[in-house]
Amino acid sequence: MKKFNRTLVTTALPYANGPVHIGHLAGVYVPADIYTRYLRIKGEDVLLIGGSDEHGVPITIKAQKEGITPQDVVDKYHNIIKDSFEKFGITFDIYSRTSSKTHHETASEFFKTLDNKGEFIVKTSEQYYDAIANQFLADRYITGTCPHCNNDGAYGDQCESCGTSLNATDLINPTSSITGNKPELKETKHWYLPLDKYENDLKKWILEDHKEWKPNVYGQCKSWLDTGLHPRAVTRDLNWGVPVPAEGAEGKVLYVWFDAPIGYISATKELTPDWEKYWKADDSKMVHFIGKDNIVFHCIIFPAMLKAEGSYILPDNVPANEFLNLEGDKISTSRNWAVWLHEYLEEFPDKQDVLRYVLTANAPETKDNDFTWKDFQARNNNELVAILGNFVNRALVLTHKYYNGIIPAQGELTDFDKETLAQIPVFKEQVEKNLETYHFREALKEAMNLARLGNKYLADTEPWKLIKTDEERVKTIMNISLQITANLSTLIEPFLPFTASKLRGFLNIETLAWENIGANVISNHHQINTASLLFEKIEDETIQAQVDKLLATKAANEAEKKIVAPAKENINFDDFMKLDVRVGTITAAEKVAKTKKLLKLTVDTGIDQRTVVSGIAEHYKPEEIIGKQVSILVNLEPKQLKGIESQGMILMAEDADGKLSFVSPDQSIKPGSEIR
Ligand code: MF3
Ligand code: ZN
Repeated sequence: MKKFNRTLVTTALPYANGPVHIGHLAGVYVPADIYTRYLRIKGEDVLLIGGSDEHGVPITIKAQKEGITPQDVVDKYHNIIKDSFEKFGITFDIYSRTSSKTHHETASEFFKTLDNKGEFIVKTSEQYYDAIANQFLADRYITGTCPHCNNDGAYGDQCESCGTSLNATDLINPTSSITGNKPELKETKHWYLPLDKYENDLKKWILEDHKEWKPNVYGQCKSWLDTGLHPRAVTRDLNWGVPVPAEGAEGKVLYVWFDAPIGYISATKELTPDWEKYWKADDSKMVHFIGKDNIVFHCIIFPAMLKAEGSYILPDNVPANEFLNLEGDKISTSRNWAVWLHEYLEEFPDKQDVLRYVLTANAPETKDNDFTWKDFQARNNNELVAILGNFVNRALVLTHKYYNGIIPAQGELTDFDKETLAQIPVFKEQVEKNLETYHFREALKEAMNLARLGNKYLADTEPWKLIKTDEERVKTIMNISLQITANLSTLIEPFLPFTASKLRGFLNIETLAWENIGANVISNHHQINTASLLFEKIEDETIQAQVDKLLATKAANEAEKKIVAPAKENINFDDFMKLDVRVGTITAAEKVAKTKKLLKLTVDTGIDQRTVVSGIAEHYKPEEIIGKQVSILVNLEPKQLKGIESQGMILMAEDADGKLSFVSPDQSIKPGSEIR
């Protein structure tokens, strides 16, 4: 293994368009903080870098919706986010932001360096332009009808109804969401980073030299690299971001995913004049903590940028986590399906370590995991209270009771005493081994094992009984129990910093050196302070209140969905008679290749056998609808769908949840019968 002399730990920069929630904490910030605290307590040279990602289209859209400026949006959330992290004890050496002057300069310089070296390809292409707003439209700013499923709220980059990813030019009836105007195609110039140029280097670097990366990370990289890399545009036509420092680039900014990772560099620069050592020296180790949706940017695109620049090191590891769900559902900001950190801090004052504990014990390290309030309660009551809190409390209370809080000296040790003491360094090694390989759940378990050991030691030696018969022996037992307690205060420090500090207060000691874990670390006749409980039981009512809060959110979301469309304007009978609706019988059905939603149907309409393409594949299997009688609009203008001419439309009933159902006659009737 390579020997490093300093470590740079970075954490994904959260978008400053909303507060942060438990998913952020579990996936990125708690593991990064554990890792950094561990290295610090070992006396290593380490920096923890963070900040807010303040550019990108979602922020401009939010600003527009709320009628404020993008700067207002990011100012508000940057402060909320920063405050939440601080209160959870995430020990950033700096928490910066990408709207800072240093960042704008750094990102701009970085771009210029690449541009001067000829690392970009400049290409012109046609993109949608809103002539009234006088601006090019980012994909998210264009809506229209999805060519695959006919959903008319599809975005220029994706249809959220059928999940297909789109190009803005695929949309039928594109509309600018700024003015509601129809945008026109106009030529525009952009700068592309030719990722393909780095493909072979990246393949070797990841697939051969970093086989030790987590399987989820390695796998995603491999699939990107196997598919082949292509040039990627690193500029956008937008007025919020870092202006592109090149000729002919007026009105353009750097793509948010180009500038944001450079934010790690800018923040280090703001922190220390020594920043280059961390970013450029061969004996520096860089580790990126991120969530799984950020893997390609940190393992492929940012490394390609760094290589193109030429003077930077690449990350040694990218221990990305999977996602944390909440009570079985994906966490969602827009659906308010989250446990927000700023709310938790108010509702559970002084319980930051409980959440840190639960999120680490249940971290989505290898697969998506679920956070439930029941599990939160169980882990608090059965683990923190019953194991850690209980042991510490007994050791401290008995010392006060028997010795007025003055630590008695050890007498002669039994074999059991020796075995118990010998276990302490074993747990330390296990914690180290696991932390150094980014196995945080396992590391926490090993740290808790020291508390388990303490509990077992007290249960087996029963000092409360011996005190009546063998007072000398009790002195040894209490001394050993306090050695375990003091060692615990160091071993849990990376995971539960608030508890560790409380514990040191009870023991009346300073932070102990990590290397000393395992030895007798607290001296005879040392006076300890009075103690209180480290953790308290969390009652059912408290948990129920949280569950109710989520149920209320769910109900509110449902209510919103259930709103039935209002009746349309009245029409006259002649208008109605223009519709030629008939009973038809489905005589054949098959899936349309490469679509999720579409079935190609053959329908006997009494007049003819015709082909109809219908968006019902997610509701009916082809084989189960053959022979079914349905309602069909036969005089609808034919239309090409996925290269098939669709002649008419099957009428479907659709409820508020999007469930579809045929409208069928209640008895068999001749195909072609008119419906009026
Ligand atoms: N803002 C991005 C997200 O929340 C993460 C940016 S990480 C950085 O997904 F590397 F770009 F900074
Ligand atoms: Zn669609």
